[in-house]
Amino acid sequence: MKRTRLAVVGFGRLGRACAETILADADLELAGVVRRPEAASRPLARPFAAVPVAGHITELGPLDGALVCVPTEAVVGVARELLQHKVPIVECAAVDEAGLRRNQEALHAIALDRRVAAILGAGWAPGALTVFQNLFRLLIPKGETEITYRPGVSLHHSAAAREVEGVRDALCAELRGESGRLQRYVYVEMEPGADPTRVSEAIAADPLFLGEETRVFPVESVASLEQEGHGIVLSRRGTSGRGIHDSLLLEGRFDAHAFSARVMVDAARGLPGRRPGAHLYSVLV
Ligand SMILES: NC(=O)c1ccc[n+]([C@@H]2O[C@H](COP(=O)([O-])OP(=O)(O)OC[C@H]3O[C@@H](n4cnc5c(N)ncnc54)[C@H](OP(=O)(O)O)[C@@H]3O)[C@@H](O)[C@H]2O)c1
Repeated sequence: MKRTRLAVVGFGRLGRACAETILADADLELAGVVRRPEAASRPLARPFAAVPVAGHITELGPLDGALVCVPTEAVVGVARELLQHKVPIVECAAVDEAGLRRNQEALHAIALDRRVAAILGAGWAPGALTVFQNLFRLLIPKGETEITYRPGVSLHHSAAAREVEGVRDALCAELRGESGRLQRYVYVEMEPGADPTRVSEAIAADPLFLGEETRVFPVESVASLEQEGHGIVLSRRGTSGRGIHDSLLLEGRFDAHAFSARVMVDAARGLPGRRPGAHLYSVLV
């Protein structure tokens, strides 16, 4: 089977994450990385040492697509130039909805003219988070959505959770729900063989947590969670006032560049069959 041949344009945090994601997938081929002239002469460090580096996209031969990983304000210019050369693109510039629409307007005509596809807003936010939000709204049409970034960490509660039998390390984040009530999210790294249900019950029964809404999430490593430091709680609660009170909750801690790279690469897989024009990722999925 022919592998999908992709280029990465801009080798910062997102570019590296995209290169890693492509190299890890046997169905994909990393044709090379396009860098600014001042950076293009330097070879890449391991594990990218064998990846070709180019000063211009045309040096990399035929491509199925390019992942645009340059700073937000440079994305439209770089994308336009790639489309001009008939290279389909995926981008995920961190802009709001109005900015995304403006980018679509700026790129649609050139994509149509060159008969190639552009997929815009295919990262974490915009991207996967937008898809989650749309789905939450679809399932609970009458309701309120709340997003909390980086929930605060309580050292006191983290220390208490660490004392629970079966817990190797713990991190307790706290936030206020819509009703003003405090909610606690406890991330626990368990000792080998520990029972997650028992640990959850023991934490919830601790006097420090009693009377508060406490949710326990087992994780592989608390240390790496703290390092990544990116957290989100997305919740939607129904306000229709009839029947059961619908509610949805998405809770996560992750590396936004790694998530964005996975979404971009997945979107790029579909580029070869995509009709010409600039499409919004959240509308395609
Ligand atoms: N949707 C999301 O959730 C999400 C999350 C993270 C990032 N992003 C987006 O991802 C993009 C890249 O972010 P990043 O954090 O990876 O940035 P970064 O670490 O600063 O990397 C950007 C790279 O672009 C190249 N570059 C720098 N200035 C440039 C210019 N004026 N014109 C063209 N290329 C230039 C450089 O690579 P070389 O040295 O190789 O030339 C630089 O390392 C941004 O558009 C950001 O908004 C989106």
